Amino acid sequence: MVQMGRKGKNMCGIIGYSGRLEARQVLVNGLEQLEYRGYDSAGIAQMTKQSVEVTKAVGNVGALKRKLEKKEDVISRCGIGHTRWATHGGVTEENAHPHQFGKVTLIHNGIIENYKKIREEYGKEQFFHSQTDTEIAAMLIDFFYDGNPEEAIWKTVAQLEGSYAFCILFEDIPNVVYCIRRISPLVAAYAEEGAFVASDITALIAYTQDYFVVPEDTILVLTDEKAELHDREGEIVEPDLLHVKWDLTAAQKNGYPHYMLKEIHEQPEALHQTIAPRIKAGIPDFEEDQIPDSIFESVQQIKIVACGTAMHAGLIGKVLIEKRVRIPAEVEIASEFRYASPIIDQNTLVIVISQSGETIDTLASLRLAKELGAVTLGIVNVKGSTIARESDYVLYTHAGPEIAVASTKAYTVQIATLCLLTMRLALVKKTLGRGEINRDFALLKESMECVKRSLLLDPQIQEMTACLTEAKDLFFIGRGIDYALSCEGSIKLKEISYIHSEAYAAGELKHGTISLITEGVPVIAIATQESVFSKMISNIREVKARGALVILITKESMQVEESVFDYHFTIPEIADDYTPIPAAVILQLIAYHTSVRRGLNVDQPRNLAKSVTVE
Ligand code: AGP
Repeated sequence: MVQMGRKGKNMCGIIGYSGRLEARQVLVNGLEQLEYRGYDSAGIAQMTKQSVEVTKAVGNVGALKRKLEKKEDVISRCGIGHTRWATHGGVTEENAHPHQFGKVTLIHNGIIENYKKIREEYGKEQFFHSQTDTEIAAMLIDFFYDGNPEEAIWKTVAQLEGSYAFCILFEDIPNVVYCIRRISPLVAAYAEEGAFVASDITALIAYTQDYFVVPEDTILVLTDEKAELHDREGEIVEPDLLHVKWDLTAAQKNGYPHYMLKEIHEQPEALHQTIAPRIKAGIPDFEEDQIPDSIFESVQQIKIVACGTAMHAGLIGKVLIEKRVRIPAEVEIASEFRYASPIIDQNTLVIVISQSGETIDTLASLRLAKELGAVTLGIVNVKGSTIARESDYVLYTHAGPEIAVASTKAYTVQIATLCLLTMRLALVKKTLGRGEINRDFALLKESMECVKRSLLLDPQIQEMTACLTEAKDLFFIGRGIDYALSCEGSIKLKEISYIHSEAYAAGELKHGTISLITEGVPVIAIATQESVFSKMISNIREVKARGALVILITKESMQVEESVFDYHFTIPEIADDYTPIPAAVILQLIAYHTSVRRGLNVDQPRNLAKSVTVE
């Protein structure tokens, strides 16, 4: 079992800067870009000639900005900033970061497992102001600090168990930010405006598209002249530079009311960017990804491991792989897989799927799979993320930054990538010929084109959602690949509309759940599979007979009596296996408009955070 840290988590946004610009503006802009990572309190520390000025606020970054309006006179070229998603200690100003102790000011993303033991051991209880684990790190660094900041940091982290990304200021070392990480993410860059560090590249993209991941157990030093890595001996470590193709506009709403709607509409481009570079003569080709066919030759079984929406993409992948490659492809929930006793060996291909590349349960599962000798392949959207770097092989999706907590474009590009992977596996395992693969790829391209037709349904979907706004319970039903898709429809709806919903295999309703179907209960029936269409219509009649309000999704060629549904949306004619991508867009729009109608925070739903490092 791979120990990654215990219950709870800090899912936060971190930004640090030293350079020529006014630090306040850089820090606040960065925090606004990172707000999707956690948003219940925020704070910054500005290093001035006289002192380190800390400003904190409960609420979102807007609340912090209002407080900073009263501190316009603070001139600073160096500072650190933090948005918090609380777990250790409630949402209060005392618990917001930055935390100060003696000469040290610090922000933190992660979990310090042994903070209670340290807090008692050093007997400084009376000096603590918060219930956070973070404050003990500031205390320890201050305790060890005797003028050598890096030595104090090394001595501190040697005592810490758990995960951390720290940014640290020493009040007697002007305009220098020190950073160190273990498990929690940190990226850094040096641009003409100065040196930057952040939880992810979206906070830096306004200044640069070139960055590097801060390696674990090195200290990053930011000054107005450099972003430099030092090892334990103080030697300089050269960073591995990365480059993102997208720019600031990709990480902004660009006129859309919400990131989620923008990202739903970005799907045609995201799919194209992900698929187009990997096709040669109508056959998927992973040469550019440095994935040799040899890793597929000996594969006898596949495990697809992920969380949430990424796991739901895996459910689609399972159907495609087992049908075309004829080897077992099990989908595993990462938080279960990592504590189970999976039957894995060197003939197992473990595919880990993660948009953020930082989900701790998926990362732990990846590490377990490698320990057990599996070949690991990541399908990841964030370049240089931990899961991408630790997978033996990685197929990056190129959806661009996904800011909305509810994953949309990441899901469809994950499905498309799994389609390509299926075709390549089938080619290597000789279960499909080149002609069949050409046909499959043509169908994938067609399904990507169908997305545009689904997007045109937006106004009708928006209008239909009036009937869902007051719903208390809602059911998604489907058969085969439509059942896998209904799992995604259900999570999308409930995570942003807060309406309880369940996905059900349509044939399973009669074994219990149909007792919940009463007058007016909405049932979203996904019936795109010709192979089981008549069975689906029978199941829909059964719920209709009990008063359900039926929202039906089929292919446009499918004949259905009007008595069977209350609302009917169709996707263009496409082979059964390639309906999920266009059908998913309808489900995404249903969830989106229902949430908007209920006046909720679509992009930052309660209790959630985007890149979830929950154990
Ligand atoms: C999806 O809408 C959710 N935000 C959530 O289920 C997400 O898919 C899950 O946390 C996995 O995240 P990852 O893809 O970044 O690993």
